[in-house]
Amino acid sequence: MLFFRIMKILNVVGTRPNFVKIMPLLRAARSYRSIKMRLLHTGQHYDYQMSRIFFKDLELPKPDIYLGIGGGTLTDQTARMMRAFEPVLVKEKPDIVMVVGDVNSTLAATMVAVQYRVPVAHIEAGMRSFDRSMPEEINRVVTDTLSDWLFAPSDYAQDNLLAEGISAERIFVVGNIMIDTLKVHLSRIKKKASYRRLGLIPNQYALLTLHRVANVDEQETLKNIIKAIHELSHYLPVVFPAHPRTQKQIKRLGLKRYFNKGQFKGRGIWRIDPLGYLDWLSLVLNARLVFTDSGGVQEETTMLKIPCLTIRDTTEWLDTLSQGTNRLVGVKPEQIIKQGRRIILDRNKKYTKIKVPELWDGHTAQRIIKTLATRYSCR
Ligand code: UD1
Repeated sequence: MLFFRIMKILNVVGTRPNFVKIMPLLRAARSYRSIKMRLLHTGQHYDYQMSRIFFKDLELPKPDIYLGIGGGTLTDQTARMMRAFEPVLVKEKPDIVMVVGDVNSTLAATMVAVQYRVPVAHIEAGMRSFDRSMPEEINRVVTDTLSDWLFAPSDYAQDNLLAEGISAERIFVVGNIMIDTLKVHLSRIKKKASYRRLGLIPNQYALLTLHRVANVDEQETLKNIIKAIHELSHYLPVVFPAHPRTQKQIKRLGLKRYFNKGQFKGRGIWRIDPLGYLDWLSLVLNARLVFTDSGGVQEETTMLKIPCLTIRDTTEWLDTLSQGTNRLVGVKPEQIIKQGRRIILDRNKKYTKIKVPELWDGHTAQRIIKTLATRYSCR
């Protein structure tokens, strides 16, 4: 009888972008009989539109373990996640804890795993915005320092890790995991044509997403961004699927007057509930341009060759600026309006010649799983 070792990987997710990133990894592991994948959801995102719809759209299995930890301050949330994760880790005894991205769930799982000497594999290692006022940047730096397997999307990410003194043997440049997911779903996204359901005309609308703490929790910054987008929405309607954090702030600061609700009919900013994976990307695919402060959206727009204006002063996705459709516009209203107008008025500009960065080829998850399988002699 042939004997092979079983490798148990405990995959930790908690937020929308995590669900997107874990999908291809679960799929790639299916080719190995000796890899056992377990899925843990911390509960950081818990509304139907922030969580369950992603499991449905991405055909993810029901989590094996659900911690139910959401809300609260950054510190309180991370601490509660760590406390809830500890007994699970002790019981599960995984060979590896796999974490993705840069959210609190990523950090919490990593910090517990290292206490128990369980090796951590970090997907999207080495991304840096060099802005330590962002909670995500702190999560990235700490997670990378503590992880054993650092799967970096690009040479740039690898260089960041080397510059921080992380040894080269721990680093593997594997490509962009989000693009794997996008490629798997592209034909479904194309068929979906979600603009029809909203009564929109392709190429005749812009999209907006906004949820970063620095943009949303700062009263003046949020007001200025919304006023700038409102002005641009006189030229082109803007559809705004608003994150719960942003919805709460809009209500609290009395900014509702800047938004339209209900059936779409013409100019202005149309505020709607957050969208699932397929609906969102279907709207991106047919948009004239996208305003965002999200990391994932900068990658997705580059891949789909849709112009993207990023409402931040820094980005960790530098290759979307040098090779993609992305441009940093900061948070000053004059710049947002100037750059927005430029794209809106330049109707005929085509972005089809834009080159997609290296290793955005849809095989990142395979490279990651193969690396681990080889090391653990899995088949
Ligand atoms: C988190 C990540 C961010 C990521 C984003 C993706 C951290 C530090 N931030 O930010 O990097 O880009 O997810 O969306 O981990 N809420 C709900 N329903 C939900 C989810 C959240 O009402 O389903 C509320 C929470 O109670 C909280 C607020 O929205 O008041 C923020 O949620 P939280 O998970 O703390 O951070 P995000 O802003 O979503």
